[in-house]
Amino acid sequence: MRLILLGFGVVGQSFVKLLLSHSTDLYNEYGIKPKVVACADNGGIITCNQGLDLDRLLSVKKKKKSVVQYGSNTGTSGILDVIENMDAEVVIELTPTNITDGEPGKSHIITAMKSGKNVITVNKGPLALEFPSLMELAEYNRIEFKFSGTVGGGTPILEFAKRCLKGDRILNLEGILNGTTNYILSKMYEGLSFSQALKDASEKGYAEKDPTLDIDGYDAVAKLVIASNLVMNMKSTMSDVQRTGIRDVQATQVVNERKKGNAIKLIASCDGKKLVVAPKPVSKKDPICVDGTLNAVTFTCQHSGQQTIIGKGAGGMETASSILRDLIDIRNIIRS
Ligand SMILES: NC(=O)c1ccc[n+]([C@@H]2O[C@H](COP(=O)([O-])OP(=O)(O)OC[C@H]3O[C@@H](n4cnc5c(N)ncnc54)[C@H](OP(=O)(O)O)[C@@H]3O)[C@@H](O)[C@H]2O)c1
Repeated sequence: MRLILLGFGVVGQSFVKLLLSHSTDLYNEYGIKPKVVACADNGGIITCNQGLDLDRLLSVKKKKKSVVQYGSNTGTSGILDVIENMDAEVVIELTPTNITDGEPGKSHIITAMKSGKNVITVNKGPLALEFPSLMELAEYNRIEFKFSGTVGGGTPILEFAKRCLKGDRILNLEGILNGTTNYILSKMYEGLSFSQALKDASEKGYAEKDPTLDIDGYDAVAKLVIASNLVMNMKSTMSDVQRTGIRDVQATQVVNERKKGNAIKLIASCDGKKLVVAPKPVSKKDPICVDGTLNAVTFTCQHSGQQTIIGKGAGGMETASSILRDLIDIRNIIRS
């Protein structure tokens, strides 16, 4: 399978390491012999019809900061041309999430779909802003569009709902979709103030320099939009979600809830009509009341009742493993 890799940061490099370490299994178990024929970062894009040498690609990125130092460089302006014209089956879109206009990921994905290439992404921006139209475009162009890593990183939250619960009707989904805010709220449960907990999260690398996307709830909103559209057939975008972040959660509120056997959690929920992201008290006995950076989602189904899935919500290798799952799926669909 010929792959175009767009974005070569934490997730992109982890994915390439996975390809290198799993090459024998991928071939023996799934008949997949992946070749990365193009790779882009912020410096530009490089291409090689025979497949790039992945060890060299990783080493060039580490030592020289940009993949363009690998060899022939077509420049960033050439990325859309490469997506459109290079012979490849799958475009893997791993550029930063942008929830303002979805770029550059949105143009990458649309160009790939229009040129008949299957798409895998873990970039939430384009889907959170334009889920319905991207799904339509994928269907119109008869390509596979996979994005399991956008919600839950390596934890297969979307696949669990879509595959394991198929045939049943999901009436409600509710859970913790953002690890950073969960870490901060867990530390507040242990007695830290909001600003102390945020500082701790930044020092441990869980919070970005500008933590707005996490603490004001936008990241959870983006994931809720993706999950509810996919598993509950909503036709929503980010503006349909009622959003409250955790900035105003007071240490006294946390202490008071703790005395009642609850913890305050940033909960994303969808009942098929209303989409909400807001902090609220959750019983410590509830399975979604997980701590640290964990994510947890409970699906309430018409026949099978409540099912909860818990796991790490982020991490380079974890998220890269979701890309590999999507790739295997695409391979199986193409083959059948
Ligand atoms: N990290 C996680 O645990 C995780 C989990 C789930 C989902 N995600 C999502 O996965 C995506 C990638 O995350 P990450 O952690 O790998 O981010 P990252 O380390 O910041 O990597 C982003 C990559 O995109 C490249 N890039 C930026 N602008 C570009 C442009 N205009 N054209 C081409 N390449 C461009 C960057 O280039 P340079 O290297 O030159 O800067 C970098 O290689 C994001 O959308 C993120 O939200 C991440």
